[in-house]
Amino acid sequence: MSDEPLLRARDLVKEFPVAGTGGLFRPARSFTVVDAVSFDLHAGQTLALVGESGSGKSTTARLAARLIDVTSGTVHLAGRDITHLKGKDLQEVRRSVQMVFQDPFSSLNPRHTVERIVTAPLRYQKRPIPGGTRAVARALLDRVGLDPAYIDRYPAQFSGGQAQRIGIARALAVGPRVLVCDEAVSALDVSVQAQIINLLRELQREEGFGCLFIAHDLAVVRQIATSVAVITAGKVVEAGERDVVFDHPQHEYTRKLLAAVPRIRSEWEAARRQKAAAR
Ligand SMILES: Nc1ncnc2c1ncn2[C@@H]1O[C@H](COP(=O)(O)OP(=O)(O)O)[C@@H](O)[C@H]1O
Ligand SMILES: [Mg+2]
Repeated sequence: MSDEPLLRARDLVKEFPVAGTGGLFRPARSFTVVDAVSFDLHAGQTLALVGESGSGKSTTARLAARLIDVTSGTVHLAGRDITHLKGKDLQEVRRSVQMVFQDPFSSLNPRHTVERIVTAPLRYQKRPIPGGTRAVARALLDRVGLDPAYIDRYPAQFSGGQAQRIGIARALAVGPRVLVCDEAVSALDVSVQAQIINLLRELQREEGFGCLFIAHDLAVVRQIATSVAVITAGKVVEAGERDVVFDHPQHEYTRKLLAAVPRIRSEWEAARRQKAAAR
């Protein structure tokens, strides 16, 4: 395996214009939402982007997935500079980088059957689908732990966890190299969260995709991440391997985030008591 990261972001900057500026006598002003963010995501690994709401996580993910254009900075996919791709080349890249969103119901068309939903990314390719869409849809449902007999149902007939499995099946349809999960388990109950996380880990083991996993919940991040980047006000303030960041946070902001998770805080306190007792 080469050391080349699958997805390499360097100094990503995104500025949005301030509404109401930019007239003849009002110079256009902008505010910076993502401010020189860099990261490497390797195949088969999960990089978690963590931070409070509004810190710029989703915008960073959208830049990296080339859903929006950068103000400056670069994105490389498997060594290829994809920062300014357009048209057909961009469509190709967008297929290799698939997204799973927070609210499965709002990202699944309620009027489409599951078969149509999960095979949509394949149909965009306008190539013949080996075995036909029904067979492919059945196989995809099976992969994400759903009964293949459900292919004729509509999203409203599923639970939140099942709907998220459908969203994952759709993302997998085109064999992505990178899966971007933007708060993909945040709206689910804790027990369902664990099931979806296990599913993602299992699929990643089989498929080898890199996963950019965005979450504000550090308890969830600890279950899935290989490495962690902590982001606040559009800047990465701390990054490293998961256990290093969790066990030895360097930045005050990271400590604050960690201390806000009761389970993590109580583990710290137990470790400190143990150390004190050993002295
Ligand atoms: N298209 C946009 N136009 C203007 N501001 C935006 C746009 N998208 C996001 N923002 C702003 O950028 C900031 C970061 O948003 P976001 O990346 O969604 O944060 P997070 O995912 O960490 O909650 C927020 O202040 C948000 O209002
Ligand atoms: Mg977000």
